[in-house]
Amino acid sequence: MSRDTSNDTSNDTSNDTSSGTSTRPGRLAPPVGAGHARVLGVGAYRPERVITNEEVCTWIDSSDEWIRERSGIVERRWARPDEGVVEMSLPAARAALDQAGLAPADVDAIIMATVTWPYATPSAAAVLAERLGATPAAAFDLSAACAGFCHGVALANDMVRGGSARHVLVIGVEKLSDFTDIHDRGTAFLFGDGAGAVVVGPSDRPGIGPTVWGSDGAQWQAIMQKQSWLDLKAEDGRHVEGEFPALVMAGQTVFRWAVWQMAPVAQKALDAAGVAIDDLDVFVPHQANVRIIDAMVKQLGLPEHVPVARDIAFSGNTSAASIPLALQRMLDEGVAKSGDLALLIGFGAGLVYAAQVVELP
Ligand SMILES: CC(C)(COP(=O)(O)OP(=O)(O)OC[C@H]1O[C@@H](n2cnc3c(N)ncnc32)[C@H](O)[C@@H]1OP(=O)(O)O)[C@@H](O)C(=O)NCCC(=O)NCCS
Repeated sequence: MSRDTSNDTSNDTSNDTSSGTSTRPGRLAPPVGAGHARVLGVGAYRPERVITNEEVCTWIDSSDEWIRERSGIVERRWARPDEGVVEMSLPAARAALDQAGLAPADVDAIIMATVTWPYATPSAAAVLAERLGATPAAAFDLSAACAGFCHGVALANDMVRGGSARHVLVIGVEKLSDFTDIHDRGTAFLFGDGAGAVVVGPSDRPGIGPTVWGSDGAQWQAIMQKQSWLDLKAEDGRHVEGEFPALVMAGQTVFRWAVWQMAPVAQKALDAAGVAIDDLDVFVPHQANVRIIDAMVKQLGLPEHVPVARDIAFSGNTSAASIPLALQRMLDEGVAKSGDLALLIGFGAGLVYAAQVVELP
């Protein structure tokens, strides 16, 4: 970013150490960011292959009725074997850039929220930057599971306002089918694949409210990869042995935490943004379970006129992708529209959470 020192108001008090704190003038140019930031474009990608509850029930002892009643899921999408998180992110990113009226070369930074890119290094974001034509954009992955997208929006907002990037592409993407044990009754019916993206850029008014976020690492085992990669390392240090480390979940623990702890977080995000619940236009919670969504709606006292995302029925739980996918559906269906204030809240493995109110592009 270019430097602007025109507002440099530092005085030369370099010898004044009387307070015990150095008042030596800064020798660094201050960061120069935009006054405000907002979401400029939204995009999403859903894989073609539909996995019905009937198909899931060929892997586990369950029923369409149980899955619908207990989770609200009717079907989910799974990616093709040759379709990974980068491939799914490309169309989502292009759609978000199109709506923003920007080209890949305009992107200064890419934040990719995912827990299913199967490489510890390098990041999926760096690969995406190259495939998209956004090189040399700064690019990094963000591990905050189902709260990853809202973490990315929080960072992008601060980056644009802090001057480290003008346009930030935030992606929430998962290929959870790769990390699902299809014979695990507790998770086989739950997870889906997909990608969602937003572009965050400068604005003449606040378009992204303050983020309310946090973590509770004492519950790190509530949703986790079954073993660490090191558990799979054979004694010779060169080979792999053991069971594939799919995701496992203490369903009821997560359910209770989400139901009781997340509505107050959502309320804090509304308060921080100065938005009364009656003035909210759209509610887009993480799509983990329709019963969690319904419980949050009730606890928040959400007025009936506020539409609530229920994309879970068609997508299952797509972790970091769930909020932008659900948002895109609401925009496509005309339930949400440009200028609306949407309350976003993500929560999941960590346990971690993040919520903010955004103005829709
Ligand atoms: C996974 C989840 C849907 C399970 O629902 P639940 O009501 O908690 O189910 P429970 O594990 O208590 O099991 C209830 C009963 O259903 C049975 N059951 C469990 N899985 C089943 C399945 N796939 N099909 C049919 N029955 C099943 C259990 O054996 C149990 O039977 P019992 O009462 O005879 O012992 C729910 O816990 C959940 O949504 N948790 C949060 C998920 C989540 O948000 N994860 C990601 C966080 S972002």
